Amino acid sequence: MSTKLRLGVLLSGSGTNLQALIGAIGTGRLDAEIVVVISNVADAYGLTRASAAGIPTVVVDHHAFPSRPDFDAQLVEHLRNHGAELVVLAGFMRLVTATLLGAFPARVLNIHPALLPAFPGLHAERQALAHGVTITGVTVHFVDEETDHGPILVQAAVPVRPDDTEDTLHARTQAQEHRIYPLAVQLIAEGRVRIDGRRVVVTDARIDPERALINPAPERAEDT
Ligand code: GRF
Repeated sequence: MSTKLRLGVLLSGSGTNLQALIGAIGTGRLDAEIVVVISNVADAYGLTRASAAGIPTVVVDHHAFPSRPDFDAQLVEHLRNHGAELVVLAGFMRLVTATLLGAFPARVLNIHPALLPAFPGLHAERQALAHGVTITGVTVHFVDEETDHGPILVQAAVPVRPDDTEDTLHARTQAQEHRIYPLAVQLIAEGRVRIDGRRVVVTDARIDPERALINPAPERAEDT
């Protein structure tokens, strides 16, 4: 068996984040292997992307199960059958339960299109526009039993434009998702990530403490 980190990806939709992971593996930026892609939606385009990349796919229709834990138990079985070590939620539109989290303790990641803890839940970009923030972003975090709540691994900030619509803002947040999800998984693949309560500690993290995103940007060079 290869020594690469074995990923099980769960999705419900288009799968552009899956595509970003596939791309990063292809170019060697992510030292991992996607061993299975599981969807609760039979015609999710992410499954087509997975098949095109030669990745095994499984459909588990949540309607077929009497409870969320029963559904999760089926997910766990498929993930284990394929030898997944890290579970990567990539647009998976189901709440996961202790059944999945207990089977993969501190080994379930999610990506959310806002700077958590701001704007959890659905339509994060719509929430950000409605609130009037000038900076929003993207968060990769470990999953716990509360929605969009677990310890935060990587965030990217995205400036909001005055003329943004939900769609234009979504396009720019997604572009950052596609950058930071592979980065976050690679940190785990390198064994550099430890969870300490709510905080995630990354060994030898590159941090530029002088750098800030200011929006609207300062007009004078000396203020930037
Ligand atoms: C992403 O915006 C992610 O933040 C959210 O679901 C969306 C999935 O997009 N959790 P895609 O299917 O990867 O394109």
